[in-house]
Amino acid sequence: FQPKLLAGRRVLITAGPTFEPIDPVRGITNLSSGKMGFAIARAAREAGAEVLLVAGPVHLPTPRGVRRVDVRTAREMHDAVLAAAPRHGVFVATAAVADWRPATLSEHKIKKGGRKLAPSFELTENPDILAEVARLAPPAAPGAPGRPYCVGFAAESHDLLHHAREKLARKGVPLIVGNLGPATFGRDDNALLLVDAQGHRALPQADKLTLARALVAEIAQRLADGEGG
Ligand code: C5P
Repeated sequence: FQPKLLAGRRVLITAGPTFEPIDPVRGITNLSSGKMGFAIARAAREAGAEVLLVAGPVHLPTPRGVRRVDVRTAREMHDAVLAAAPRHGVFVATAAVADWRPATLSEHKIKKGGRKLAPSFELTENPDILAEVARLAPPAAPGAPGRPYCVGFAAESHDLLHHAREKLARKGVPLIVGNLGPATFGRDDNALLLVDAQGHRALPQADKLTLARALVAEIAQRLADGEGG
């Protein structure tokens, strides 16, 4: 028997990388596979939530019963998320959003022929989707539109706890989930570190669906304890 821990809740999730075009055939992206976010979407749906998954370019099937919106760039992801966030009780940001994008998009393919120097690109900062959602006004009454309970992710190569604590403060979110496993991108297993203002707790090495179910149970517990709307 699997209790429906998130029955009646709406959960919004971002997953995968973003792709920031340079010209019609090239762009900047990263190695995020989207597996962790898709696993969380599946686990939240299993727990009875209504789930909206905003996905960057990934090669993964949509979990059953989950509504999915595909986007390509950080700005598209931003617009899809900000339009939906106030109607959701939980926002889980697993996407590896590109921090920067090329400042200008070349209309034509940039050609090599005749060039003496390699081209250089000016970059400009992308919006921080999680920080913006975390700044929304809280719901005026239970069930009214407003800021969802926000969960961020941290993929760091070193000093995970330090960076996760810094992210809690900088993004203004109550819970940051760190990737403890080495080079988790694309793998089927991971280990997580839950970090909040009180302290931290590890979820040991397991496949991503097992971890996703544990994280969903943790979020449900926090909502039941009165955190969030
Ligand atoms: O340190 P960083 O800004 O990369 O924080 C990572 C967390 O913030 C992740 O939850 C990621 O999904 C989210 N993020 C975001 N928009 C950005 C950058 C990161 O939502 N532009």
